[in-house]
Amino acid sequence: MMHRLFKTCHVGTKCCLLTLIWSFATWIVIFQVYHVLFPSKSEIPELRKSQLMDSVNVSPDISAFQSALKHVSIRGEPLMKESSSVQIRENSSLKNNTRNRAVEEAKLLRLKKLAGLLFPSKALSMDASKANHSEVGIYYPGREWRDIAGHPIQAHGGGIIYVPKSETFFWYGENKGGRTYHLSKRGTARVDVLGVNCYSSKDLWSWKFEGRALKGEYRNKKSDLYVKNVVERPKVIYNDRSKLYVMWMHIDNGTYSKAAIGVAVSTHPVGPFEYLGSKRPHGCDSRDMTVFKDDNGDAYIVYSSQINNELHVGKLTEDYLDVMERGMEKIFIKQRREAPAVFKHKSIYYMLTSGCTSWNPNGALIHASTSMLGPWVTIGDPCVGGDEELRTLTFFSQGSFVLPLPGLQDTFIFMGDRWLPSDLRDSRYVWLPLTMNGPLYQGVSTDIHFPQLQRVSIRWADEWKLPQGWNNSQNL
Ligand code: GAL
Repeated sequence: MMHRLFKTCHVGTKCCLLTLIWSFATWIVIFQVYHVLFPSKSEIPELRKSQLMDSVNVSPDISAFQSALKHVSIRGEPLMKESSSVQIRENSSLKNNTRNRAVEEAKLLRLKKLAGLLFPSKALSMDASKANHSEVGIYYPGREWRDIAGHPIQAHGGGIIYVPKSETFFWYGENKGGRTYHLSKRGTARVDVLGVNCYSSKDLWSWKFEGRALKGEYRNKKSDLYVKNVVERPKVIYNDRSKLYVMWMHIDNGTYSKAAIGVAVSTHPVGPFEYLGSKRPHGCDSRDMTVFKDDNGDAYIVYSSQINNELHVGKLTEDYLDVMERGMEKIFIKQRREAPAVFKHKSIYYMLTSGCTSWNPNGALIHASTSMLGPWVTIGDPCVGGDEELRTLTFFSQGSFVLPLPGLQDTFIFMGDRWLPSDLRDSRYVWLPLTMNGPLYQGVSTDIHFPQLQRVSIRWADEWKLPQGWNNSQNL
């Protein structure tokens, strides 16, 4: 055949050789394409079927957060490998295939178990409308949480204030009760701006929906609150002078390039809040943020800036309705921290932060300072107990607020969000006790006076209760 090919070629031997190589290459490509389009049965890994995981009664769809779990491992073995099915296809012997399949099935089983653990079925909800006496007041971090009307609580990225006059707690958070979608192929998962919800409670466990304290805007495309924008991490503080409740929040557009803060006010804790507008604080971009009201009435804003490379701390004006343009301090420069939450204990300020990995969890850090404006020192990861892998991921959550408990000196509540990027409305809450465990003498080089600086622990508990007898007013 070779001979004939050379013979029939009139241009020369070089050309014939090229023709031969090209036709050979073409056949290989055709063969490969055919193979990919119509694989023989034996080459479709069994695993694919189980990867769909449709028959498992785990809520919600596990494939949804596979990406977040990819880096999570149990006993040192990664739970998900992106190349798992490719690996199997490469193994030719039946024996190897069977063994690999078993390994993969075992991994997926662990993944399913872990998924069931992280996002327990809705049948296991903490339901204030149904709970029988023995269940009231028990926190199960990660379970769906329902209000006294039996509806899932929608208050993500939120914060709480305590109003002594009515001995009531008010919880504000993002209403993510809509459909999750992406504005563009590479855009982050999002839901429309449905507003900021407000819930009230006397015991921090049974919550009453008080309505949308701040509503999303459906018509006016120019409004910051327009549904296609972003309104995140709302926090409310009370101004004793003006007697107004002031809400600060992260305001953004769909691509997170506006990077601003917004403010709203109300005469009543449940709203309706009147939106006053947004700005870039100190002329800087700002994304995740919080506000903190000090004992003397001074209030501060803390926000991630320089594209999340650093945090900025600055004072609010006396009426809390604006940011004082002078005196801003940059902290944790190049450390890429976000989701700040501030609390005070024995005249020391503590700040909890997360890393920046979008909806995926990462490790928490606790920082301390004798002044809100710094200098701040980093103490370390406060998470203690539970599964080692999950502990290093803030128990698969991202901090949002640290709540002081009236009447209790050394115990706070850590409030975190266990985001579910495939269906953000089903993101769960991880609430855990945060305790101050006595003097911290070692490991931190700081000017802060020992023994004032305390070891901070967020301790994992599958289920927990507030201390017996604690139920607001009696302990005040
Ligand atoms: C996180 C942030 C969340 C939300 C999310 C969007 O880093 O803490 O509040 O903005 O990114 O991807």
